[in-house]
Amino acid sequence: MPYAKIIGSGGYLPPRVVSNDDLAVELAERGIETSDQWIRERTGILQRHLVEQGVKTSHLAVKASQIALDDAGLAASDIDLIILATSTPDFIFPSTACIVQAELGAKNAAAFDVQAVCSGFVYALTTGETFIKAGRAKNVLVIGAEVFSGILDWNDRSTCVLFGDGAGAVVLSASDEPGVVGAQLNADGTQMNILAAAGNVSHGVVVGDPFLRMDGQAVFKFAVNSLAQSAHEVCEQAGVQLADIDWMIPHQANLRIINFLGRKLGIDSSKVVVTVDRHANTSAASVPLALDVARKDGRIQPGHLALLQGVGGGFTWGSVLVRM
Ligand SMILES: CC(C)(COP(=O)(O)OP(=O)(O)OC[C@H]1O[C@@H](n2cnc3c(N)ncnc32)[C@H](O)[C@@H]1OP(=O)(O)O)[C@@H](O)C(=O)NCCC(=O)NCCS
Repeated sequence: MPYAKIIGSGGYLPPRVVSNDDLAVELAERGIETSDQWIRERTGILQRHLVEQGVKTSHLAVKASQIALDDAGLAASDIDLIILATSTPDFIFPSTACIVQAELGAKNAAAFDVQAVCSGFVYALTTGETFIKAGRAKNVLVIGAEVFSGILDWNDRSTCVLFGDGAGAVVLSASDEPGVVGAQLNADGTQMNILAAAGNVSHGVVVGDPFLRMDGQAVFKFAVNSLAQSAHEVCEQAGVQLADIDWMIPHQANLRIINFLGRKLGIDSSKVVVTVDRHANTSAASVPLALDVARKDGRIQPGHLALLQGVGGGFTWGSVLVRM
């Protein structure tokens, strides 16, 4: 049975950088008070990248995918499956994965979206690995891409300062060498109300609330506890110790969550990849973006063991252990 190995990665952030100070000025014009100090101290976020009006998720996804394909040394026609994780698709349908397939010219690929909010990439990676192990795909493009700025209530300071836009992608390929060595996914729909954008379009009108709403403190506790448990379970499944992990790449929601988690697991902060300071929370894009940053800056080397973790709305959470 072949392994599924990450052979390339790419990341793309829209060029408009909005610092906390910039955001505080923009919000002040609407009569909403925030500050760089509040955002920095509670979240570790210093800035975020935001799209210009009208830029869609597929646009970011295509850019990240092209970089990942080049990095892998593959042509778009080599890809036989595209799995795109997003909560901010371009349309109700077709799937954003199909739009990306057309833009890339990946004419041999099946394509579908995965919806698991901030756990989306971990869900999509696990799905891609399963296709490869089953012999149903050889080269899978796994993407996390979001334009979260479009579902934020910019009058709600408790949420709008936390998120950013972006996309990350990896190419997962059948290999005789170990790649994904463990995967563990979870959901608890009874917790759906602590983080949701509970709206829809029906009969041509918005029904419900189209904006992201969150009980921040409940999410905080849930995230730390669920990711800690998931890390133990995936290590047990793969027969490795937490001490064997070279790099922890958790969902980038909040530096305080990441630090709590690292301490709870006894993983030294020097082994934890952090991008939330520069990217803010890009939901399904956060893990592949962070992975790409740490691969490209030379921290993650071939043979290293990386723990990728997602957590978010649903509630959903999970872990993937990858031998790079
Ligand atoms: C959102 C979060 C940063 C809020 O931090 P907190 O310490 O829980 O803060 P609280 O919600 O208790 O709010 C404290 C005060 O700050 C205020 N506040 C909220 N947002 C603010 C902002 N952007 N600027 C200034 N003040 C703000 C609140 O109104 C409240 O004021 P009050 O005490 O006068 O009522 C924190 O709960 C968190 O990070 N949660 C996890 C969120 C997350 O990661 N979600 C995504 C998971 S995928």
